[in-house]
Order: sequence, then structure tokens, then C-alpha cells
Amino acid sequence: MRVVVIGSGGREHALAQKISESADLEKLFIIPGNPGTASCGENVPLNINNNNEVVNFCKSNEVDLVIIGPEQPLVNGLGNALRERNILVFGPDQSAARIESDKSFAKMIMKFAGVPTAHYIEFNELMYEHAVEFIKNKKYPCVIKANGLAAGKGVVICDTPAEAQVTLRSFFIDKDFGKAGESVLIEEFLEGEEASVFAITDGENFICLPPSQDYKKIGDDDKGKNTGGMGAYAPAPIVTNEIMNEVAEKIIKPTLRTLQDEGKKFIGCLYAGLMLTTEGPKVIEFNCRFGDPETQSVLPLVKGNFLGLLHSAAKGKLDDNLVSYNGGSSVCVVVASKGYPETYQVGFDITGLDKILGNVTVFHAGTKNIAGKLVTNGGRVLGITSVLNNVNFSEAKKEAYDAISKIHFNNMYYRKDISNRAIKIK
Ligand code: AMP
Ligand code: GLY
Repeated sequence: MRVVVIGSGGREHALAQKISESADLEKLFIIPGNPGTASCGENVPLNINNNNEVVNFCKSNEVDLVIIGPEQPLVNGLGNALRERNILVFGPDQSAARIESDKSFAKMIMKFAGVPTAHYIEFNELMYEHAVEFIKNKKYPCVIKANGLAAGKGVVICDTPAEAQVTLRSFFIDKDFGKAGESVLIEEFLEGEEASVFAITDGENFICLPPSQDYKKIGDDDKGKNTGGMGAYAPAPIVTNEIMNEVAEKIIKPTLRTLQDEGKKFIGCLYAGLMLTTEGPKVIEFNCRFGDPETQSVLPLVKGNFLGLLHSAAKGKLDDNLVSYNGGSSVCVVVASKGYPETYQVGFDITGLDKILGNVTVFHAGTKNIAGKLVTNGGRVLGITSVLNNVNFSEAKKEAYDAISKIHFNNMYYRKDISNRAIKIK
């Protein structure tokens, strides 16, 4: 098979690595890729937000399957553009990707499907005064969310009416969230632990990969700003088999059916961001793609023909016998540039990666090769991932952090507590 992976982050490095292990692979291209993906296939420097560029490349290189990593090209309709030219795609069309890009659409699908989620009310700019009145009598904390795509940063948890007031101002008057914040959802605050579940689907049938947990806040003990994710581990022990069955039956299955009934069949990875409440799992958000950094800890736990699985989903005939959980555990710690998720510097030499051996894999995200030297080139720079063939989070954590101690670049920052939640549960 001739395969393209779209994207350039740690998630895409993990995808490319897994796919490169497949016996079915003839040639792998990564568009645009990063220095890590260069060791799995050929990087091709194209603009992934230009559908024509990507489609033309795939046509002239006789590509059999395209796997789309990030949400933006999916929301831009890259899936549609490729399918129109008869290229198989793992990733939903624009209309189904709305489940991530339009939170009020996601809520409507959940309502039709009977999927448990937080109660909410939507307000747009014209309803600013109503929103201000509404928050005066709300239960606190409450959650105010941008309706559109905001790279994981469009959610504010408000502890008091005064904070909610300031937040509404920042959305509607100061327009801090741009177009994404032209309308907002004011949502009930859900209590519990979070978990991420990936369902690989052909639109109807699906299989769930091992559940994981992401660490979204920049600081230890979940302090500070929200980020794209600072680390993850899998399989999350809090998601028991019973909870997993409940997620499959009460969340994934009815959501896929409703999307299909609405004429928006979802082919790809449906990511359910869950809150495990005392009333059972509830959806915080859906994403239309694999999570980052969860993918870096989930994929190493999948054995079998992963490329075959994605290909079968893309063809519309999921073969759920192709992969299974390998019985292992993994911890991925994101090493970032100090200052992220706000401003940070780039261009610092990265050293020590050659000293990392054994059970640890280094996934590249914000890195770049300049004159043969590897330098930092983004907020999230590397995902240091330990993988064990049994479940032992204390050991997996130790191996990940031992590896990090061998790495150096200026302004290096990482959380010290990734996987502590799993260690506490065990
Ligand atoms: P989202 O981008 O919707 O996943 O939200 C980002 C983060 O905000 C989530 O991972 C949660 O930690 C938090 N969050 C979002 N919605 C809620 C909610 N209704 N209740 C509690 N926390 C929430
Ligand atoms: N790690 C959260 C996300 O991928 O959206």
C-alpha cells in the first residue's frame, strides 16, 4: 500500500511509526512531517491546508490511503476533496468533522442520540446582555466555551459570577477568541476524572483502542493554563471494562448512528473526551481525530495490523479482528519550550537523544533540522514515551523521566507528575 499521513506533530510521528511497521506498506509519505517522521518514511513539504496541493500529490504518486492527523484539514474538507478523486481516506468529511468544530452541533447530535453530557445554553454576540443576566443566577463553578475551534484553549472554568462576567467580556467585547468565540456555550461543571477513548470506525462498526488519560494543564497538580496536552498514559486503570462497555454502548454507538441518520457518516477516529462522574461517563467534547499526546501512549499498546485496520475503516468495512491490546502500559511525557502555551523561543540545540535506549521512544513534535543539527521549533518539542510489556506505571514513569534526564535544550520544561493518577489507583 502507498500511504500518506497528514500532519507534523507527535501524534503523526506515532502514527507514522506504527504504520511503518506494517507488512502491507510499500511506501509512506508524511505531509509535511518532522525530523522524527523522516525515519519512518519520506517527508513532503506541502501545505496541508491547501486541499488541491495535497490531492494532486496523492494522485500523481498513486496513493492508496490518506490518514489525516490534525482537525484543521478535516474541517477544511480535505477528506471530501480526496474522496471526490477516488482516494481512500481515514478521517471524516467536513460535515462529520463538525462534531469537533461546532460544539453546538455536537450537543445537538448528543441530544438526538441520548448521549450523556453537561447541560448548557448557547449565546451569541447579539445576546450578550442576556448572557450577563444568565450568569448572575448560575450554579458555580460554571464553564464557558468557545463554540468554534480554539486549539484546546477556548474553555474557561469560572468560579464566581465576577469571573464569568470578565470571561463573557473577553469573548464578546474584546473578541479574544476571534471567530471561534462568536458564540459560546455556558455549561454545567462536571466533576470526576477525565479519560480519552478513541473509536476507530467505518461510520457504523467501531472498535475502541485502550483508554488513556491526558494532562491538559501546563503545571504540576493541574495548575495553570490549558495546553494541547502535556502528557498521557495508557491504559487508564480508572476506565474499567464495565465503563468501557458503557462508553461503547451509550456514547459511541448512538453518536455514530445519529451522525449517519443525519447524512454525516463518520469514517475515522472518533475521540470521546469523557468525564467519569458518579452518574456514569459523560461527554466533555468530541474530536474528529486522534488525540495528541494520547496517541503517543495508546498506539504502542496496539498489536496486529494497525494499517490494515485503518484501511478497512476507510473502505467502509471495518475488520475488527486485525488488532488487539498487547497487555502493556505506557507513559508519555511532553517536553516543551518554557513559556508554552503562550510565547516561547525556538532554535535551541537539542542534545542527548542518542543516549536514550531500551523501552523509551522519542516522538518528535516541535523539532527541526538545521545544517544537520536538531533544534527546537515549537511549544511542544518532544514526547518521551516509555512502553512496558506489562502494566506497571511506577516503572514506566521512572523510565520516561530517566530518559528525560539525559536530554537537554535551553528553556526545557516538562511536568513532573505524569501518570501519578494511575499510580495512585493501582
Ligand atoms: P474541551 O476543550 O471541551 O475538552 O475542554 C478542555 C478542558 O476543560 C477539559 O479537558 C476539562 O478539563 C475542562 N472542561 C470542559 N468542559 C467541562 C465541564 N463541563 N465540566 C468540567 N470541566 C470541563
Ligand atoms: N489531547 C487533547 C486533544 O488532542 O484534543
